[in-house]
Amino acid sequence: MPQSPIRKLVPYAEDAAKKGKAIYYLNIGQPDIKTPQIALDAVKTHSLEVLAYTRSDGSEEYRKKIANYYKKHNINLTHNNIIVTTGGSEALLFTFGSVMDTDDEIIIPEPFYANYNGFSTASGVKVVPVISKIEDDFALPPIEEFEKLITPKTKAILICNPGNPTGYLYSKEEIQKLADIVKKHNLFLIADEVYREFAYDGNTHYSVMQEEGLEQHAIMIDSVSKRYSMCGARIGCIVSRNNELMQTALKFAQARLSPPTLAQIASEAALETPQSYFDAVIDEYEERRNTLIAELKKIEGVQVAIPKGAFYCIAQLPVKNSDAFAQWLLEHFDVDGETVMVAPAGGFYSTPGVGLNQIRIAYVLKKESLIKAVNIIKEALKVYKD
Ligand SMILES: Cc1ncc(COP(=O)(O)O)c(C=O)c1O
Repeated sequence: MPQSPIRKLVPYAEDAAKKGKAIYYLNIGQPDIKTPQIALDAVKTHSLEVLAYTRSDGSEEYRKKIANYYKKHNINLTHNNIIVTTGGSEALLFTFGSVMDTDDEIIIPEPFYANYNGFSTASGVKVVPVISKIEDDFALPPIEEFEKLITPKTKAILICNPGNPTGYLYSKEEIQKLADIVKKHNLFLIADEVYREFAYDGNTHYSVMQEEGLEQHAIMIDSVSKRYSMCGARIGCIVSRNNELMQTALKFAQARLSPPTLAQIASEAALETPQSYFDAVIDEYEERRNTLIAELKKIEGVQVAIPKGAFYCIAQLPVKNSDAFAQWLLEHFDVDGETVMVAPAGGFYSTPGVGLNQIRIAYVLKKESLIKAVNIIKEALKVYKD
């Protein structure tokens, strides 16, 4: 199993903290936004006397309400098209297991969410990357690039929309190009849409589940982690209208018995969160993004892709090896006792040697902290030697 590039520097951060350094954590997508009170209260005030298992595919009441939530996003489906999982992570793992056998192939535009590598390894399948480029803000690579890579072993194309780590938001036209290719070659189109709400500059998210004709091909991965700042709840879901696929995924769900009961109660309550919560959160992230990008652009030699969604960006630095740089920041550098933790981007690629001079920054901290953190990177680059 590959290490998570997001978490592998943790021991160095712990050491730095023990030595009294304050650290700005830009390495992990743990938002500082408050969880909706309604969700926290639901856990405090429930009347359960036995904390029992739920159905393997999740409580029916909760799934009906999720279907209702999708309706508001112009996605029409029923609770039977939903399996509740222990986070989007488990939804991905079950999906990989359901659509692929050992040695099958999955095409993924890179850089991609690093744990796709881990899930592929765990499922014994091969990731076939298509490189998207920082110069294009990580837009969908030309569809011919996908087509060239399709073999008899290819079972699926996986996209993350909006993207972690790229922040790229796919247009309706790009989704339609992917729809055409998966229909032509009879593949699954798996879309990780856990950041659906996080779309900026007035752009709207277009889901694979909105695309007609994809009923047998589209699988959506979802999660409450980011939407309601409920990462610790561990609730997500698999959504698909393909009945055979869902029956297979259900077998994986049965093997682990049930998703967590209390967390389903919290997640069900979270669905009542008013739109004003999201409006405030999106405004906050858009402002953070603007601040982060403006500050990064001030540093000579740094190239940055402008994110249109999610809360990450990839920055290319004038260093040879961002792994070593990120570790050095924690071990040997500070500005007035403060340093920063970032995720080296190499782990977000599966092509060896690509992205080694890039880092991923999660803008999950307040504006003032982001300004200080970028200043630390700027000062560090003045003295760092590869
Ligand atoms: C793109 C993407 N997919 C899936 C996940 C998994 O989230 P969880 O298991 O918390 O739902 C994450 C978490 O950061 C993510 O960024």
